[in-house]
Amino acid sequence: MRLEGKVAIITGASQGIGQGCAFRMAAEGASVVCADIQENDGTAKQIVADGGRAEHVVMDVRSAADWERTVAIAVERFGPVDLLGNVAGVVNTVSEDTVVGMTEEGWQFVVDTDLKGTWLGMRAVIPGMIDHGGGRIVNIASLAALVGLPNLAAYSAAKGGVIGLTQQAALEYAPHNVLVNAICPGTIDTPILGDITEQMRKENSQAHMVKRLGTPADIAGTMFHFFSGDGAFLTGLTYPVDGGWSVNGRCY
Ligand SMILES: NC(=O)c1ccc[n+]([C@@H]2O[C@H](COP(=O)([O-])OP(=O)(O)OC[C@H]3O[C@@H](n4cnc5c(N)ncnc54)[C@H](O)[C@@H]3O)[C@@H](O)[C@H]2O)c1
Repeated sequence: MRLEGKVAIITGASQGIGQGCAFRMAAEGASVVCADIQENDGTAKQIVADGGRAEHVVMDVRSAADWERTVAIAVERFGPVDLLGNVAGVVNTVSEDTVVGMTEEGWQFVVDTDLKGTWLGMRAVIPGMIDHGGGRIVNIASLAALVGLPNLAAYSAAKGGVIGLTQQAALEYAPHNVLVNAICPGTIDTPILGDITEQMRKENSQAHMVKRLGTPADIAGTMFHFFSGDGAFLTGLTYPVDGGWSVNGRCY
C-alpha cells in the first residue's frame, strides 16, 4: 500500500484508462476522487465495495468552476490533494479530424477537453500542492503526439500541447516539489476505440512490437510508478507506454 494516506483526483474515471488508474491508486491505498462528466459512479462504488476510499464527482474538465468544486470536495472529504491524473479526453466525434476536413467546432471540442482541461486541472491543484509540501501530476497525452496517425489532426495538436505544458509545469513547480510527467499511450483497448473494425484492431495490435493492444492496467502501472516513491527523481518526462510502437521501424 505505497500510496497510503495520499489523496488522488483521477479524471475520466468512469471507464477506460481513468477507471484502471482509479482502481490501481485505490488498491495502493490512495483515497480517490473519481471525476467524470458522466453520472456513472460505478468506479467509486467498486472501490468502496473492495474496502477502499473513493468519491464520484460529476464535473466537466473544460470548466474552471467545476475544477474548483472538485478540488474542494477532495479536500473536504479526504484532505489536501497529493496526486492528479489528468486522464479525461476525447477524439474528434464532432467532425472529421483532418487538417482540411475538420470544423472549428471539432477543433474546439478536442482542444478544450484534451488540452485546456489538462491546464485547468493543473492550475486547480498546484497551489494546494505547494502549500502542502509538494505533489505529483501525470498528464495523459498520446502516441499521436509523437508520430503521424490518420484522422487525428486536432487530437494530435492537443496532445502535443499536453506534452509542452507538462514540460513547462515541471520546470515552474519542481522547486516546490511538484513533479509533472506525461504518458503517451499506444492503442489501449477502451470504449474510446468506438466502432473500429476488426481489421483496424488487428493492424493496431501489429503496430505494437508486443503484438497486442494495451490495457488500462498497463497505463495505470506507469502512472503508479510516477506517483510512488520510485518517481521521486522524475519530472518533465514524456513517457511512451505503447508496446514499442513509437520505435517500431518495421511498422507491422
Ligand atoms: N484508448 C487509447 O487507445 C488511447 C490512446 C492514447 C491516448 N488516450 C487517452 O487516454 C485518455 C483516456 O482515454 P480512454 O481510452 O480511457 O477513453 P474513454 O472514452 O474510454 O474514457 C474517457 C473518459 O473521459 C470522460 N470525459 C470525456 N470528456 C470529459 C469532460 N469534458 N470532463 C470530464 N470527463 C470527460 C468520459 O466520460 C470517459 O469516462 C484520453 O485522454 C485519451 O485521449 C487513449
